[in-house]
Amino acid sequence: MSRFVTFLKWFFTVLTLLVGGFFIFVFARQHKTYDAPYPDITASTDSAVIARGEYLVFGPGHCSGCHSPLEYQARIAAGERLPLQGGFRFPLPIGDLYSPNITPDSTGIGKMTDKDIARALRFGVGYDGRPLIDFMPFHNLSDDDLQAVISYLRTMTPVRKEQPAMSRNLLGKIIWALAIEPVGPEEGVDIPKSVTPDTTAVYGEYLANYVANCRGCHTERDLKTGAYIGEFYSGGFAMPSSLQPGKAVVSPNLTPDSETGKIAGWTREMFINRIRQGRAIEISEMPWDQFKVMSDNDLKAIYAYLQTLKPVKKANGPTIIDL
Ligand code: HEC
Ligand code: HEC
Repeated sequence: MSRFVTFLKWFFTVLTLLVGGFFIFVFARQHKTYDAPYPDITASTDSAVIARGEYLVFGPGHCSGCHSPLEYQARIAAGERLPLQGGFRFPLPIGDLYSPNITPDSTGIGKMTDKDIARALRFGVGYDGRPLIDFMPFHNLSDDDLQAVISYLRTMTPVRKEQPAMSRNLLGKIIWALAIEPVGPEEGVDIPKSVTPDTTAVYGEYLANYVANCRGCHTERDLKTGAYIGEFYSGGFAMPSSLQPGKAVVSPNLTPDSETGKIAGWTREMFINRIRQGRAIEISEMPWDQFKVMSDNDLKAIYAYLQTLKPVKKANGPTIIDL
């Protein structure tokens, strides 16, 4: 009996130490920081560079869809160039994440150098060293496009508005400590100095993977860590709706599979017309308002690229589901 009591004492002491140690580890890691190289990029005041940046920010790069509050989305969709003051809330299983203010005020990118912004977008490391949750697919953006985007951001009217930091729940704190790391450029893919916009599948691939993030949404991912768990472009990623709590919107399969591919059988004209029509499902997470103003050439290029994908047979069920 007394041996058993001694065992229990030891057992619980060790257990307490392990659990306590784990939580000390988790809490100590809440302010972990990372390092990454600073890309050699400086904003330009050249009007052609700024114009390219403006097109990317309000078009294919869809920064405006995320870095503006919900109540401004209708005006942005109507073509107004509102300064991007952030404040869009993303309800994630690990806590609420808000998009920050990216106007040149000190509550926004005023506190960052051009190289801080370039490093954040390319290497997923925030200006303060924190790992950024991988919402932005711009790691392989060309040097010139990265410069264009930053050049345009610097011309926006500064708005004074501090957006809330991420509120991590207990699961969020544990996952943050163990699994959240900066995501950088794709391995084995060279980052171009510049790209020439044309209608080829090569340019379409650049847009779809590294600018418009078609791939990031049209591939199944682990919602807790962001990791890809499905075959690229086969859809089935259920995104919790930021507009209607409790519902998720599921992305369709964009590969040219004749049975389950959503756009299999669509001509190029049908594809372009569909994107131009814009949002059909009110609570869809897809940034239709930004994509519908993409140039004809950009949409042709994306269509050409999607046609080159390997067909993947994957039916993804209904588009709107309960969580
Ligand atoms: C899908 C939504 C989304 C899109 C699109 C998006 N952002 Fe973000 N952005 C976020 C979120 C969310 C954060 C906060 C991430 C975090 O703190 O982990 C963020 C953070 C940032 C930051 C702050 C980095 C830091 O050091 O703290 C900058 C700068 C930024 N975004 C610029 C841009 C630009 C420029 C674009 C377009 C080229 C863009 N974003 C497109 C959601 C988005
Ligand atoms: C932020 C996530 C997100 C991004 C980025 C995104 N999509 Fe989607 N997409 C969705 C979701 C969710 C749906 C299903 C709801 C809907 O139809 O709006 C969808 C639907 C579609 C549809 C089917 C529309 C229909 O009529 O049924 C097409 C085509 C499409 N996306 C193409 C694209 C292309 C091309 C890109 C890149 C230029 C892209 N998507 C980027 C999330 C996204």
